[in-house]
Amino acid sequence: MLPTQQGCRQALAYPATMQDLIAKTGDPPRNKKPEEIAKADPRQRAWIEVNPTAVEANCRNLRRYLSESCALMAVVKADGYGHGAVTVAQASLLGGANSLGVATLQEGIELRQAGHKAPVLVLGNLTHAEDLRACLDWQLMPTLSSMREALLCQNLADGSGRKLSVQLKVDTGMSRLGCELKEAPRLVEAIGRLNQLDLKGIYSHLALADGDLQGEAALVTSQQQQSFERVLRALPAQKNGFCRHLANSAGTLRDRGLHYDMVRVGLALYGHSPNNHLHGKVDLKPALSVKARVTLIRDVPAGVGVSYGHRFTTQRPSRLAIVGIGYADGVSRSLSGRISAIADGQLLPQVGSITMDQLVLDATDHPEMEVGSIVTLLGQDGDAFITPQQWSDVSGSIPWEVLCSFKHRLPRIVI
Ligand SMILES: Cc1ncc(COP(=O)(O)O)c(C=O)c1O
Repeated sequence: MLPTQQGCRQALAYPATMQDLIAKTGDPPRNKKPEEIAKADPRQRAWIEVNPTAVEANCRNLRRYLSESCALMAVVKADGYGHGAVTVAQASLLGGANSLGVATLQEGIELRQAGHKAPVLVLGNLTHAEDLRACLDWQLMPTLSSMREALLCQNLADGSGRKLSVQLKVDTGMSRLGCELKEAPRLVEAIGRLNQLDLKGIYSHLALADGDLQGEAALVTSQQQQSFERVLRALPAQKNGFCRHLANSAGTLRDRGLHYDMVRVGLALYGHSPNNHLHGKVDLKPALSVKARVTLIRDVPAGVGVSYGHRFTTQRPSRLAIVGIGYADGVSRSLSGRISAIADGQLLPQVGSITMDQLVLDATDHPEMEVGSIVTLLGQDGDAFITPQQWSDVSGSIPWEVLCSFKHRLPRIVI
């Protein structure tokens, strides 16, 4: 039996965050506005704010978009795409998610140690017997791509008195994890005969679903879907509850025909659309902001070179705001001179090279700015907002990578 979701609503603290530090001073941050929290520690130079209510609402809106019979897996790998896995797992489950997806054994254990009881699928491949045994101990579901892995699981579960729940992945065109298409029906049958294994589902992963709605992306997605359906048709009869799934966020939003019994949603859960064409299909609210403080104001004349390489020279007498965040915090150097930050609802251009710990804003048109002022690098302030997609557009990255790139030097505040 899979574990039930009972108990997943326990309030859980994420370790080693600014939240904890403040909590120790008897100052619970959940009851305060973010500005008040930041003011509570004026020494904090930069931080991330995570809004679990947004994750919960996104999850609820995604749920409404799915049919009643389609389950929703919240993909919370990579520390919940940088939002804090335990926090977003809790918010997702409150918003109606049925299960959780992680990439590694350690990520699964973290959820269990925090008290989450929902089914957890490990999407990455576990190759060591010790790791698969840990799945049995922690009731995590490994993904199998081969008979070798299935036999490893069978052997280690043998004699334990417990069955190991597993899922089989089939490669329909991603050429990453999964068994060969033609092997899948035989593997399902063979795994079904292994008395220590409980095969809970079969799935595949889309390679181009976040591409255009026509052209190559549409063609490859449709080919993958057809391959998946061919496998499903060739399977021996399955018991109730056998779960077939294919879609990530993009697949979920682009075509209901890709939903099957469950969708595995990551990016959309965090409030971002995987593709401009899919924007607006479901109401999504970004759940993460990046903020930093001004640590110094400099009034300089025209003609002054700014930061490493002097890639920017002031064209007028300028007021420069030095901000305490840099590429070592996750603001990539490739964004240098191509982004803005928001101060009091006003966009201020970032100028010169972004350095390891600091960047410079041109605050000439914002004379109120002072040491200690808070600027928003990502997120919303007033009517202005900056998205991971905007960063990706100028740096050649993708929103997934932007979200995952923030480092532990940035404390995370749950608001
Ligand atoms: C197997 C698998 N399923 C689902 C997802 C979620 O993808 P997305 O964030 O695009 O929704 C991922 C993320 O990379 C994944 O690897």
